[in-house]
Amino acid sequence: MNSDVTAVVVAAGSGVRLGGTVPKALRTIAGKALVRHAVDNLIAGGCSRVIVMIADSERQAFEEALQIAAPGPGVELAVGGEQRQDSVSNGLALVDTDFVLVHDAARPLVPSSLVAEIISQLRSGSDCVIPVLPVVDSIREVGADGRSSVIDRGRLRAVQTPQGFRTDVLVAAHRRVSELGVEVTDDAAAVETLGVEVQLIPGSEMALKVTRPIDLVIAEQLLKES
Ligand code: CTP
Ligand code: MG
Repeated sequence: MNSDVTAVVVAAGSGVRLGGTVPKALRTIAGKALVRHAVDNLIAGGCSRVIVMIADSERQAFEEALQIAAPGPGVELAVGGEQRQDSVSNGLALVDTDFVLVHDAARPLVPSSLVAEIISQLRSGSDCVIPVLPVVDSIREVGADGRSSVIDRGRLRAVQTPQGFRTDVLVAAHRRVSELGVEVTDDAAAVETLGVEVQLIPGSEMALKVTRPIDLVIAEQLLKES
């Protein structure tokens, strides 16, 4: 083991909500694939190895988008799984550093300063550190009977990536959720099943997730103005 940091970038989804004919991670802003933006920002923030999880059928397209043959810090491809958590698990099996960051390719514009801050917190002893933002909308919870009630948004946070972990903690967490047979939408939720404390740090509007077509427009504009 060593104290370098590996990033596992999950890019094996198809992007149903975004639509289009290529996987979401290969859609471009400013002429560069979303996954390439994400990888470049992770490397700039201090990750020395990046493993990009993809659908096997898309290997050639990802190799081209990432210019894998080019020199520079290690960027490699591996095959993801059915659900996001399976893609993360497959990637984790390849990690040999003490710390790992898990990042959505769908968050292309994550600032390198946020990546660096997460790495710094891990090196200072945090087991799990995640970026969050306050929730801006009023939120209502709707019951099975259709009746709704307001939830105090002051207590809520929206969770982003990259999420940083001690690698052994995240490996144990993935083993646990797999034993329990539960589905989680992020890795901090997996870690929580072990009773490990999740450290929150301020996220960034730039780390928005491209989910629907309007998000691509927003990301493009944000990049222009940054
Ligand atoms: N992802 C993955 N493997 C899966 C599913 C998702 O690696 N089996 C990745 C996506 O590529 C994306 C990230 O997880 O970078 C966040 O998921 P999401 O935004 O939901 O992307 P998609 O699943 O591709 O989109 P959709 O749900 O609209 O189909
Ligand atoms: Mg999805």
